[in-house]
Amino acid sequence: MREHGSRLILRTNQFEPTIIQRAEGCWLQTTDSDRYLDMESGIWCCSLGHNHPMVSAAAVAQMGRIVHLGPAFLAQATIEAAEALSRLTGGRLNRVVFLSSGSEAMEMAINLVRQATGRQMLIGFDQGYLGAFGSAAEASGPTSTAKCMKVPTTDCLRCPVGATPTTCGEPCIDPARHLINQSAHEVAALVIEPILASAGVIIPPAGYMRKLGALAEEAGVLLVVDEVTTGLGRTGRWFAHQHYYLQPDVIVLSKALGNGFPIAAVLCSADLEAQVVEKGFRYTQSHQSDPFGCAIANEVLRVIAGEGLIEISEKVGEQFKKAISTLSADFPQVREVRGRGLMIGLEFADHDGRAAEDLARKAQVKLRERRVVVGLSRLHPVLRLLPPLIIGEGERILFLQALELALRDLRS
Ligand SMILES: Cc1ncc(COP(=O)(O)O)c(C=O)c1O
Repeated sequence: MREHGSRLILRTNQFEPTIIQRAEGCWLQTTDSDRYLDMESGIWCCSLGHNHPMVSAAAVAQMGRIVHLGPAFLAQATIEAAEALSRLTGGRLNRVVFLSSGSEAMEMAINLVRQATGRQMLIGFDQGYLGAFGSAAEASGPTSTAKCMKVPTTDCLRCPVGATPTTCGEPCIDPARHLINQSAHEVAALVIEPILASAGVIIPPAGYMRKLGALAEEAGVLLVVDEVTTGLGRTGRWFAHQHYYLQPDVIVLSKALGNGFPIAAVLCSADLEAQVVEKGFRYTQSHQSDPFGCAIANEVLRVIAGEGLIEISEKVGEQFKKAISTLSADFPQVREVRGRGLMIGLEFADHDGRAAEDLARKAQVKLRERRVVVGLSRLHPVLRLLPPLIIGEGERILFLQALELALRDLRS
């Protein structure tokens, strides 16, 4: 392992002492012919695996045609990408803008609903993460801000009232109902992640989500669904809101859309577009709807459909979750294994006088020592797995072996 010049890179976070030379599929290759199994797809972006050959070929071909255009022009690749995404909504959302990152696109979505309704207030989940800056950051996390009121995330594992399956959702829906009914006149939108990856793979119950959607609709509050992490097959559906039969007014996508290349999309209806255009809405950014990213997105969408990755994510995800649960049953440190498709979380419990947070952190370190990369939630003691949807059986077995050894290490 060789020290590198990481001191030159602003310390926004801690870096590993090795550098990655290339990556392929689920693997990150270091300069030392050593490699890591990437169970996080970068940061949940490379759903087709790193360096997917068809995506790389499409990028090279587009690079030879046209990369970027000024705001007065559109290219065929951009139109095609908009058509492909709109088709995924059954044509209901048929206005699309492409940007570069999830945070930017969430910002744009919030901007749109505020302009359309003339209202400033948002309602969001108290454990949500919607972006790194601006209004999206303000609407993230438990702290109430002046511009975003919070509803419960329905964190069932920590249900404060011990609801049963029949009463499930009700203790959470009551405060949400109260908030929406009282404040609808000042609220632009309910802005939610359908499954919360950052919070620690929190999966709200379907009944709660359906009621929340219905309450917003009845009250005339728009619904913005942040599919930045969950979208395009990650949870076994094209969109995770389909698990709840929600009908969003705005959908935001990023991450998997570029398979690692920075591209994001905001989808809304022609009606919403008409409302904002009437109010003089204009927006220009250098890399808005650039053909290069759109050509990559087109290929990503073709590969997902062509290789049946939505179905694979659901089926393989279920098998993998079961295998992790079976293995973890021998380790009382693991409190719960949960997930949807290939978004899986392992939550730790306090054990033998050691705090769950400490156990989860140590498990992550032990896996990293075995060259396996997993995520760690900031809110809860949860290891996060969002591997490429193309993860093979051999790689899943390698992960299970490494996990078993890491969990054994926690005993010592
Ligand atoms: C649900 C969700 N929304 C928005 C974002 C922000 O996306 P980006 O990091 O591309 O700006 C993230 C990032 O992890 C996310 O998980």
